[in-house]
Amino acid sequence: MLRPYGLDDSRVNAKSRLSADAVTRKKNSGMDLFEAIKKRRSIRTFLDEPVAREDILKMLEAARLAPSATNDQPWRFIVVQDRELIQSMGRMTHAMLDARIEAATSQERKEAMERFRFTNTHFERAPAIVVVLARPWPSYRTDYERSLHDPGLQSVAAATTHLILAATALGYASCWLTGPVEAAKDELEAMLGVESPWYMVAVVALGKTDRQYEPRPRRPLEEIVTFYP
Ligand SMILES: Cc1cc2nc3c(=O)[nH]c(=O)nc-3n(C[C@H](O)[C@H](O)[C@H](O)COP(=O)(O)O)c2cc1C
Repeated sequence: MLRPYGLDDSRVNAKSRLSADAVTRKKNSGMDLFEAIKKRRSIRTFLDEPVAREDILKMLEAARLAPSATNDQPWRFIVVQDRELIQSMGRMTHAMLDARIEAATSQERKEAMERFRFTNTHFERAPAIVVVLARPWPSYRTDYERSLHDPGLQSVAAATTHLILAATALGYASCWLTGPVEAAKDELEAMLGVESPWYMVAVVALGKTDRQYEPRPRRPLEEIVTFYP
């Protein structure tokens, strides 16, 4: 059968499959992308309800489809739904924070660290967490070069964004945390069996909430955008 140039059977089928998928998605979640973007908030306390494994798989599928530099997909995800393991990770993070607070040289620093304790550890009460791993971008010669525009880390951030937006679309609350990594990276990696070259960059806490949260303030477009012309 004749097809327009470059459009073979599989692509036409893929096209019609795609639109059918889009309709199903809309029916299932009732939330389009912009609704999810607007609705998403960082939520730090969850109801005592499990997160369905099939929904976690959908979130991970969204993460898997994220763009990445050279399509390198430099990410891995560890899903933890074992209550005891999540709580032990929380205890470990507290212990590392305690040690740091103990070693801090000024009272001011100690108090500042204590204020951040909750933001570093609240994942301990989530029914599910996704630990996000990255691997170093290979073609940089120095850490300084990497720090300027690390394509690997940017790619992993794109995947994490997909994951939390998918969570919102599926009716879950989430919070993206780097605090536990800052507090206890090596210890948490050891608990989860993370092996080089992979390293932990974030934890996403997931769960249900029954509360409405006001959006956090954002800078207006005029302040953050330049147009030419
Ligand atoms: C890279 C990154 C790291 C973050 N780390 C933490 C964290 O360690 N603990 C926490 O409670 N929230 C953390 N957040 C959530 C931010 O505090 C939150 O996104 C911000 O305050 C805006 O609020 P909103 O997400 O509700 O719009 C992090 C967010 C990002 C993107």
